[in-house]
Amino acid sequence: MCGIVGAIATRDVSPILIDGLHRLEYRGYDSTGVALLDDKGVLQLRRAVGKVVKLEEKLRESPCAGRIGIAHSRWATHGGVTEANAHPHVSGGRIALIHNGIIENYVELRAELQAKGYVFASETDTEVIAHLIHDFAREGSDLTAAVQRAVRRLKGAYAIVVFDAQQPDRICVARIASPLVIGLGSDGGNYVASDVQALLPVTRRFQFLDEGDVAEIRRDSVTIWDAHDQRIERPVHESSLSADAVERGDYAHYMLKEIHEQPRALADTLSERLLGDHVLEAALGPAAERILPLVQSVHIVACGTSYHAGLVARYYLEQGARVPCTVEVASEYRYRDPVVMPGTLFLAISQSGETADTLAALREAKKLGYVGTCAICNVAESSVVREADLALMTRAGPEVGVASTKAFTTQLAALGMLGLAIAQRRGLDRRTVALYARQMAQVPTLVEHTLKLDGQIREWAKRFADKHHALFLGRGPSYPVALEGALKLKEISYIHAEAYPAGELKHGPLALVDDDMPVVAVAPNNALLEKLKSNLQEVRARGGQLFVFADPNTGIEPADGVDVMTMPDHIEALQSPLIYTVPLQLLAYHVAVLRGTDVDQPRNLAKSVTVE
Ligand code: G6P
Repeated sequence: MCGIVGAIATRDVSPILIDGLHRLEYRGYDSTGVALLDDKGVLQLRRAVGKVVKLEEKLRESPCAGRIGIAHSRWATHGGVTEANAHPHVSGGRIALIHNGIIENYVELRAELQAKGYVFASETDTEVIAHLIHDFAREGSDLTAAVQRAVRRLKGAYAIVVFDAQQPDRICVARIASPLVIGLGSDGGNYVASDVQALLPVTRRFQFLDEGDVAEIRRDSVTIWDAHDQRIERPVHESSLSADAVERGDYAHYMLKEIHEQPRALADTLSERLLGDHVLEAALGPAAERILPLVQSVHIVACGTSYHAGLVARYYLEQGARVPCTVEVASEYRYRDPVVMPGTLFLAISQSGETADTLAALREAKKLGYVGTCAICNVAESSVVREADLALMTRAGPEVGVASTKAFTTQLAALGMLGLAIAQRRGLDRRTVALYARQMAQVPTLVEHTLKLDGQIREWAKRFADKHHALFLGRGPSYPVALEGALKLKEISYIHAEAYPAGELKHGPLALVDDDMPVVAVAPNNALLEKLKSNLQEVRARGGQLFVFADPNTGIEPADGVDVMTMPDHIEALQSPLIYTVPLQLLAYHVAVLRGTDVDQPRNLAKSVTVE
């Protein structure tokens, strides 16, 4: 999704803006642009279709510098991927503006502004905001007042950053439903960006804006007004992230780095919460003591990979904690007008904590009489965490690859702990709780062993690279693992991949199976193994090529058309979704590398989907 960087300082800010854009590349985008006010007071605009390097080429051909500037990476919503649609948008040669979000009433505003003589240079919804602010500035409002007046006219979601060539002492920002963070510099400058990672090289001190806030950022001060135009102080947070937390190191891709970071990320997520034989409830926050005893059932809402984590969690909660659990994608939930059973906990799962649908679902849920709301999230300062009653943070560290890996497995670890916390409250006997706690504690080491399969998986990948379709099968909690494996493969290799609960095979997908269709099976040694084996026979009988990830003692042997990869020994039911996910991530990764796709930033996708 769109990335935003803005800076006002006593030195040339162009390198800070370009570095910030690079640091936001992981969000996914298709064009970029920068506007700077040069020392002669002239607004300089450079934009380019494609990656940030294209913008850098333009800047080399036609350099510009300035002590105030804004930069943007655009993920197209309204209007095609063209230079004219790229941000910043400029009005009257003086107002330069960047925007993340969607303005719902832009057609009406566009007509109004056209009637006043404004000529539109793009097809975007964003350009109306630039002209609206210009219109108010032309009437005599200072930039801050013009922004306050303009945002009152906007319907929808936005984070905007704007400067006026005629008032070079400030940049102004505003946000509703799109993330925006102010970075407080100690070097004669202040900054703004979509997330803290963009600004870590210049500051570690951040202020997060609330819904409806407008801020005026000068070189030596930041002033914030709330949604009612009242002056307000927002707390200053010190980030503990290091600037190189988002560096790739020696890995060829962020995704590979993040796959290999999983043992550490899981250990961090479990530490201080999983205390030998029980889970520390307080890890969920002070409201846990009040809310957990009331929980009779759980409703989980999420998107994408986080939704798959929710599907696994249903098994943890129902089979482990004996709590009824339902799971739903957020974009459906928010418009469904759901009926809430008494005693239900609403659980939002989100890596970023800013996904528009998940956030909207959480807000909807807060009106509906749940016993409480809970977030499983990777970003402590995110909107979802700020707005939920309880939160259990994953400690995966920043995830840059668009295809989620370590965020997913750490979500599973957090969900396992949440299940145990609820089970403890519901009186599950202490020995069973202690057993589950020990099993969970072994997961980081088991993942480390599983990563050693990398070489063999790379060999398997060669046999997928020229395929057009692949099928993934699993039963029970291995079904969502298969879903996640198929999602990884399609996201980054662009091979059409589907996952099915293996028992459904004969109700449709079997029609697709022939000797050109690789079929991946997730085969832990559990109560459903024999049934899965029968399903695999059905595939073999139609000439399908089987690639089976199996426990050592499943009795599934390699044969003609059957390849078997042996997983580490003694994987327990609780551990299995976490462990079996890892080889599927590696498979998708190696297939994508062989196909030469953009692994970390696959086409058309965004890391953080902050628009509906
Ligand atoms: C996007 C990302 C996915 C992610 C999904 C939900 O589609 O590309 O990797 O799973 O959003 O994101 P969230 O931050 O809410 O987990």
